[in-house]
Amino acid sequence: MPCRYGVTGGGFIRNIIPIKIISIAFRLKSRKLAVEFFYKSQESQVKMGLFSNLYRDIAIDFGTTNTLIFIHGLGVVLNEPSVVARELSNGKVLAIGREALLMSDKVHSGIAAVRPLFNGAIGDYQAMQELIKGLIDKTKTRFSYGINRMVISIPSGITPVEKRAVRDFAQHVGARKVYLVTNPMAAAVGLGLDVREPMGNMVVDIGGGTTEIAVMSLSGIASGECVKVAGADLDNLISRYLREEYNMAVGELTVENIKKTIGSAYKLEKELSMDIKGICLESGLPEVRTLRSEDIRDVLAVPLNQIVTSIKKSLESLVTKPEISVDVFDRGLFLVGGGALIRGLDKKIHEETNVSVHICDEPQSIVVKGAGEILENLEKYRGLYSI
Ligand SMILES: Nc1ncnc2c1ncn2[C@@H]1O[C@H](COP(=O)(O)OP(=O)(O)OP(=O)(O)O)[C@@H](O)[C@H]1O
Ligand SMILES: [Mg+2]
Repeated sequence: MPCRYGVTGGGFIRNIIPIKIISIAFRLKSRKLAVEFFYKSQESQVKMGLFSNLYRDIAIDFGTTNTLIFIHGLGVVLNEPSVVARELSNGKVLAIGREALLMSDKVHSGIAAVRPLFNGAIGDYQAMQELIKGLIDKTKTRFSYGINRMVISIPSGITPVEKRAVRDFAQHVGARKVYLVTNPMAAAVGLGLDVREPMGNMVVDIGGGTTEIAVMSLSGIASGECVKVAGADLDNLISRYLREEYNMAVGELTVENIKKTIGSAYKLEKELSMDIKGICLESGLPEVRTLRSEDIRDVLAVPLNQIVTSIKKSLESLVTKPEISVDVFDRGLFLVGGGALIRGLDKKIHEETNVSVHICDEPQSIVVKGAGEILENLEKYRGLYSI
């Protein structure tokens, strides 16, 4: 969704004066003078606040499955799949985000649909650059000139080399100041939890590539786990099940739809079923099958158990910090990320850990909302991010 970002309020006069000078220079046929004025003076203009409205402050949640962008003063303006479609012969980018995802199931051998992140690690640096730059461009209007401050949320298990790569990249796309915050920390801020206080707050972020578990207190992580099991693994298992059980091939989007529509972690009050269309691997012909939620639950049981076991491990490791542990048992844990929407996962976690589980509205956008809140209050949240 492209944003609207214009020159408003008091900024109008401040921004219009230099624009006017440039246009006069153009009218006097001194194109060179206009360009020089524009470029040479940009630094001082920013310092003076002349072009401040044209420089945007943005926050980004760059995820394995989806990338979200928050713009200061506007809120969340973009939520698109982290996919780049490229022509293989010449590397030319054909589509970014939503359009690239739609192509991903229908690509021919000459096109590759690439996801830059894999299991919480950067697998393709070039695709990462193309994706972020392409998505930021989608939010631009003719009044957007550049980026001033950029807060980027990163997986808590990211290596120092990857961290540097993200920072370099942000500077490469023009960000003047870059702030990095871990996903669980941003999620906690987005949830309105005050992680600066001496109080234990537990967040579990189940995304597409990783599950990040963190217990935070006094602006730090008291106990954390970053598990490489998440939504994409559930999709892969459903895909394998269809191949092995029904000899059937289905597309990526259909598999995800099965997970969302009838996937569950706990016995449902009313079990569900759905018809799916795919291709019979033997005959090569299209066919329809009816799937049952009980069967899909069995398929998903192993990775979901792994996630629950990791949550238990994190809780157990708090035994040396009993005060924090008590806080978590008192307040419960907060489930975020798209994986929070798996039916009955909250019940399963509660049954096995005895901790109450909270799921907020729109758990997939909570990280970028937190990153945006940090962006708008950098002084207040000093200590939660690295520069
Ligand atoms: N209703 C739903 N039921 C089950 N899973 C869902 C649902 N909605 C979204 N998901 C899954 O959530 C995952 C995406 O979540 P999210 O957008 O939080 O991931 P991400 O931030 O891109 O990934 P990561 O944080 O691992 O880098 C996908 O695997 C998606 O299929
Ligand atoms: Mg995420």
